[in-house]
Amino acid sequence: MRVLGIETSCDETGVALYDTDRGLLADALHSQVAMHADYGGVVPELASRDHTRRLLPLIDQVLSGAQLERTQLDAIAYTAGPGLVGALMVGASTAHGMARALGIPVLGVHHMEGHLLAPMLEDEPPAFPFVALLVSGGHTQLVQVDGIGCYQLLGESVDDAAGEAFDKAAKMLDLDYPGGPRVAALAEGGDPGRFRFPRPMTDRPGLDFSFSGLKTHTLTAIRQLEQAGQLDDQARADVARAFEEAVADTLAIKCRRALKQTGLTRLVVAGGVSANVRLRAKLEEATRKQGARAYYPRGRFCTDNGAMIAYAGAQRLIAGEKDTVGQMKAVPRWP
Ligand code: KG4
Ligand code: ZN
Repeated sequence: MRVLGIETSCDETGVALYDTDRGLLADALHSQVAMHADYGGVVPELASRDHTRRLLPLIDQVLSGAQLERTQLDAIAYTAGPGLVGALMVGASTAHGMARALGIPVLGVHHMEGHLLAPMLEDEPPAFPFVALLVSGGHTQLVQVDGIGCYQLLGESVDDAAGEAFDKAAKMLDLDYPGGPRVAALAEGGDPGRFRFPRPMTDRPGLDFSFSGLKTHTLTAIRQLEQAGQLDDQARADVARAFEEAVADTLAIKCRRALKQTGLTRLVVAGGVSANVRLRAKLEEATRKQGARAYYPRGRFCTDNGAMIAYAGAQRLIAGEKDTVGQMKAVPRWP
């Protein structure tokens, strides 16, 4: 079965073609990052318009990359939520329109299920069951995954998501959007010993997270340096490093705790923040200590992409799910 995947939930237009026998055949992505950078964040209306402009040419590009015609598709999967409603509607209406014209099934996928299953596209995919750490701009969750669709939430952030905290810290440090990779780059030259930020909620039992306090801590550190006339480039790098160390440590501590609690030995890490190199190093150490192994998607499938949606959609279709004809789904908030 050849499944076209469409991702338009936020600021990346992603398209991919997944074959249930042969694996991933082609994928393409257009990032709107440069367009939104002038505004310091994603402007929803601009995002929807750009998806409208980019989506059909990207679909053609993927089909020609795989040397296939539209009529050779067996199904279409699209991100139905959560995300920006206008952006979601572009993907949903395109998917439903195409599927209706071609007379094939269409299926709305949960964006986070896409992230969760992205490591399954790698050469050595993890076997079920596993623990998944989902760390993106909108979510920070620990999930026990027993199989496709069998997900048990073990813990989540009670306030900001880890990616959101990175983006906010970036703004405080006068770095451009998107902040995560920029904070990481600045932290490279930082001294890990100069400041120590708290590891929130690690001193009590449980698997929930809280990152809003770290944000306040970062702001206070910056203000104090500023008032003392010490906020030079090195000090900014040191603050970035302390922030990154604290987020990465906190996530690693909770992952190890989740592995211990569940008795599982596989940890899947996905979502935009899983691209963070320091986080990966800490997770490698935490899993090794626990006698476990960590699995990640390849770099370009850590952030939003069409391949994860094509894969998740294919699995759901195999399980017999599909949308009702004419009822496209665009669900901005979807637990
Ligand atoms: O999964 P994603 O592409 O979109 C959402 O579904 O949210 O994640 C985007 C988030 C942003 O907050 C971005 O700053 C963060 O992932 N991110 C990073 C890195 N790369 C992306 N955070 C820290 N270090 C990185 N290298
Ligand atoms: Zn995402």
